[in-house]
Amino acid sequence: MTLRGQKILLAVCGSIAAYKSALIVRLLKKQGAEVRVVMTPSALGFITPLTLSTLSENPVLHSFTEGELGEWNNHVELALWADLILIAPASENTIGKMVHGICDNLVLAIYFSAKCPVFVCPAMDLDMYKHFSTQENLKKLQDNNVVLIDAESGELASGLIGQGRLAEPENIVRFIEEYIGNTAPLGSKKILITAGPTYEAIDPVRFIGNHSSGKMGVALAMQAWKMGATVTLVCGPVSDPLLAGLPADIQVKKVVSGQQMFEAVETSIDHQDIVIFAAAVADYTPEVVSKIKIKKTEDTFTIQLKKNPDIAKICGEHKKENQRFVGFALETNNEEVNALNKMKSKNFDAIVLNSMNDEGAGFAGDTNKITIYSNHQPAYESTLQSKEIIAREILTYIMGI
Ligand code: PMT
Repeated sequence: MTLRGQKILLAVCGSIAAYKSALIVRLLKKQGAEVRVVMTPSALGFITPLTLSTLSENPVLHSFTEGELGEWNNHVELALWADLILIAPASENTIGKMVHGICDNLVLAIYFSAKCPVFVCPAMDLDMYKHFSTQENLKKLQDNNVVLIDAESGELASGLIGQGRLAEPENIVRFIEEYIGNTAPLGSKKILITAGPTYEAIDPVRFIGNHSSGKMGVALAMQAWKMGATVTLVCGPVSDPLLAGLPADIQVKKVVSGQQMFEAVETSIDHQDIVIFAAAVADYTPEVVSKIKIKKTEDTFTIQLKKNPDIAKICGEHKKENQRFVGFALETNNEEVNALNKMKSKNFDAIVLNSMNDEGAGFAGDTNKITIYSNHQPAYESTLQSKEIIAREILTYIMGI
C-alpha cells in the first residue's frame, strides 16, 4: 500500500488512450490511494464516467455544473482536496491550454487552482508529439513544476510506430510511488500527537469538558502518516466517525481524563522524535469524584478542583536534545503574549496560535487559521483553510525546526 491515504485526482482527456485510465484507477486504488476522476468533455467519447466511477467508487465529474438543478462543481474545492493531480492521458489540446491559460473546462479550472504536485502523461500521435510546439509546451510545464511522465514508444492508434503512447499504467503508478516515496519527508520520524478534549468526572453522569472536537489533532495525525511518519495519537473523547477514518497503522490511544492522557503520553514519549500537543486538556479536575449521582439540594453548589498534570510542561522538562515539541494555544485575548509565555514555560520549540477572535478558527469546525511562533517571533501565518491543509502546513513548518 505504497500510496496509503493519498488523495489522487485523475483527470482524463480525449484520447484513444483514455481506456487505460480504468487500469490506472485500479492500480492506484490497489496501492491504497483515494481516487476521484474528472474528465474533459471530449474524454466522454472514449470512456464512460460509469466505468470510472464504479472503479474509483466516487462520482465522476466532467462539467462545471451537474444535474437538472445545475449543481455547481467547485473546482477550487476539488483542487484543494487532492494531494496529487494526475492528468492521464493528457491530450495536445489540454497541454496547450495548460500553458496558455485557457480555462474552458472543469479539468483546466482544477489545474489552474491546484496547489499540489501535478503530473502530466501525454498521449498523441508521433508527429504531434515531436512537433516543436508540443515539445515547447511540455518544457514550459516542467519549468513551472509540472512533473512529466513521458510518452512511451511503440505502436500508435494510427498504425504508425514511434513515441507518443501513453506510458503504461504500471509505469505511471510506479513513477508516482517513487515520487511519493522520495517525498515522504517524515519517513524516518516517530510522531506523537495529543488531540481532543478531556472529560473530568464530577460524578457518574457529569463531567467538566470543553468544545474541542479532536478534528485538528486527528488531521495532524492523518497528514503526518501520509508524510510517512510512524504516528501515535493520544485522543480524548471524540466522535467515533472521526477516528473510524484513520488507517489501522496509526496507533490510537483513547483516553478520557487529563490524568489518563498524561499516563498515555508518558509511556510513549521517550522514543518520539516529534510531539505535538494539540489537545485541549482541562487545567483542573474535581478533587473528589462522587461515586453516586449528586442530588440537587442547595441553591448553590461548589466543586473543589485540583490541578491536572500539565502534560506538555512535565514532558518539556525532560525533552531530549533530538526531540522537537510543538504546542498549541487557543486564546481569546492577548493572543501573542499568552502564546509566547506558553511556549517558554512549556519548553516548546514552536507554538501554534489559533485565536477565538478569528472567525472559523479554533474549536469544532472544519477550518482553522493559525500563526506559528518560533524563536519568540511569528514565523508563519496561514489564511483560513481546512484543518487538513493547516495540518500539512504545520508539519511542513516543523520539519524545518
Ligand atoms: O479539537 P478541535 O475542535 O479541532 O480544536 C482544536 C483546538 C482549538 C483544541 C487546538 O487547535 C488547540 O488550540 N489546542 C490547545 C488548546 C489550549 O489552549 O490549550 P492550553 O492553553 O490549555 O494549553 C497550551 C498547551 O499545553 C497546549 O499545547 C495543550 O495541549 C498543552 N496542555 C495544556 C494543559 C495540560 N494540562 N496539559 C497540556 O499538555
